[in-house]
Amino acid sequence: SPSDPDLVERARAAKEKLGDKVFVLGHHYQRDEVIQFADVTGDSFKLARDAAAKPEAEYIVFCGVHFMAESADILTTDDQKVVLPDLAAGCSMADMATAEQVAECWDVLTEAGIAEQVVPVSYMNSSADIKAFTGKHGGTICTSSNAKRALDWAFEQGEKVLFLPDQHLGRNTAVRDMGMSLEDCVVYNPHKPNGGLTAEELRAAKMILWRGHCSVHGRFSLDSVNDVRERIPGVNVLVHPECKHEVVAAADYVGSTEYIIKTLEAAPAGSKWAIGTELNLVKRLANRFAAEGKEVVFLDKTVCFCSTMNRIDLPHLVWALESLAEGNLVNQIQVDKETESFAKLALERMLALP
Ligand code: 13P
Ligand code: SF4
Repeated sequence: SPSDPDLVERARAAKEKLGDKVFVLGHHYQRDEVIQFADVTGDSFKLARDAAAKPEAEYIVFCGVHFMAESADILTTDDQKVVLPDLAAGCSMADMATAEQVAECWDVLTEAGIAEQVVPVSYMNSSADIKAFTGKHGGTICTSSNAKRALDWAFEQGEKVLFLPDQHLGRNTAVRDMGMSLEDCVVYNPHKPNGGLTAEELRAAKMILWRGHCSVHGRFSLDSVNDVRERIPGVNVLVHPECKHEVVAAADYVGSTEYIIKTLEAAPAGSKWAIGTELNLVKRLANRFAAEGKEVVFLDKTVCFCSTMNRIDLPHLVWALESLAEGNLVNQIQVDKETESFAKLALERMLALP
């Protein structure tokens, strides 16, 4: 729906009043009404770097979800304040791995006698606590755009990887990009004793995948791919690596949101694309590339927004910007010092990946 002109004007005025004091970051899954006010847009990797590259901005307004704002707080200076316009913008995947569950998992690996061989690799889509655990145990963070490089690095440090919390990104990267087999991967279920695995299974595995997933990307199925190929002859299927393995295996191209955009930019006029990622982004791309004669459709027949990304709407953004412009710091996301120091270690290992 088109943005309310009154709110658009208020957002513009508040932003103008704040000037260089504010820097607005927008993830690709944000609504159009919000993304129009972003100083930069990007995937989670690009936004982490962009946040760290703006030390002069007093306020970083993060239009995205909670774990992204935490990462921005970790990577920015102590004087900079990170604001999330709606505190309820969480991520169901990040919530699937708690600090207690991961500590328990480490005990299980220790009892199986393999903890010393295991390097944790945690997806950006995790809480600061999980990132701190990762840093403490010699591991790194990855995003969907550098997961292979992170795994290459991890397997130079140890023989096994504990991949948190997205089993699909872990499995897809291991099998698709690293030449491992499905049998090299086991799934650790935090709701079962010992993760539902025997010590033998843990010792035989190369990749120990946490049983987490994205509820948005989890909705694409092999049927969605087969249906679209039937509906649109010659279509290219391009999906995000948070999709299930069978979907990724049936797709033509796989990559992060930033990769999806670059692939479409480079595509020839007349080409047809079915995209398996969040709907705000796909709709925006469909509009943008229609002008260049490229047909872009959503991979599934059902609607598929990320409900927590969508919580950041224009009214929340206006409220945050106007509050800041009046000198009221609202919705600050602040990671405690101890957590921050270990989480930063893991994030910096990611930023230093070749
Ligand atoms: P990227 O931004 O890394 O493509 O990840 C997608 C996502 O699910 C963010 O929540
Ligand atoms: Fe989390 Fe999935 Fe939404 Fe990304 S798209 S914020 S992983 S629920």
